[in-house]
Amino acid sequence: MGKVYVFDHPLIQHKLSIMRDKNTGTKEFRELLSEIAMLMIYEITRDLETAPVEVETPIGPATVPMLKPQPICLVPILRAGLGMVDAVIRLLPNARVGHIGMYRDHDTLRPVPYYCKLPADATESLVLMLEPMNATGGSTAAGVTELKKQGCKNIRVVNLIATPQGAQLVHEMHPDVDIYIASMDQGLNENAYIVPGLGDAGDRIFGTK
Ligand code: URA
Repeated sequence: MGKVYVFDHPLIQHKLSIMRDKNTGTKEFRELLSEIAMLMIYEITRDLETAPVEVETPIGPATVPMLKPQPICLVPILRAGLGMVDAVIRLLPNARVGHIGMYRDHDTLRPVPYYCKLPADATESLVLMLEPMNATGGSTAAGVTELKKQGCKNIRVVNLIATPQGAQLVHEMHPDVDIYIASMDQGLNENAYIVPGLGDAGDRIFGTK
């Protein structure tokens, strides 16, 4: 059964609080998102396997742990997920990157994937789906559904902020998937924005408002 992990580390919380401030500009917002993404990935990858290898230090031979070769795939949900990619790649330089784009159907109000391009080995990879804002859970759950449709089996969801209802929907639809978040916020307002949230993450990352 998948779990929801909330990272209450003071560094993450401090940086997130600055992001929430409406006076924080695009440059600082992006930098903070990257820093938090790195801190989160550090924990999310805690169970990656290592194997002993021989190296020669300046002092002498040593048997030391190195990561076992294992395919890792990052899948940002367009467009806010892009704001986490560079930071994660710095820690996981061999990771490949897929993309999922989604639009909201006018009639059903449901998210519909319009674009999905994954690396060839995504089905054998640990897939980290990057979606900063999990508001209703609809697009996060639809993203996971799309990944499963493409054959991915080992999926972890990385949200910056989720709501209880968003996390619950993802958990109900995908009980096998772990969800990692920096904050579980109160809920949604009448426009489906997260409260207190940080506004529109995409607009704040890309300066489009
Ligand atoms: N998407 C955002 O970027 N912000 C919200 O508050 C909800 C969805």
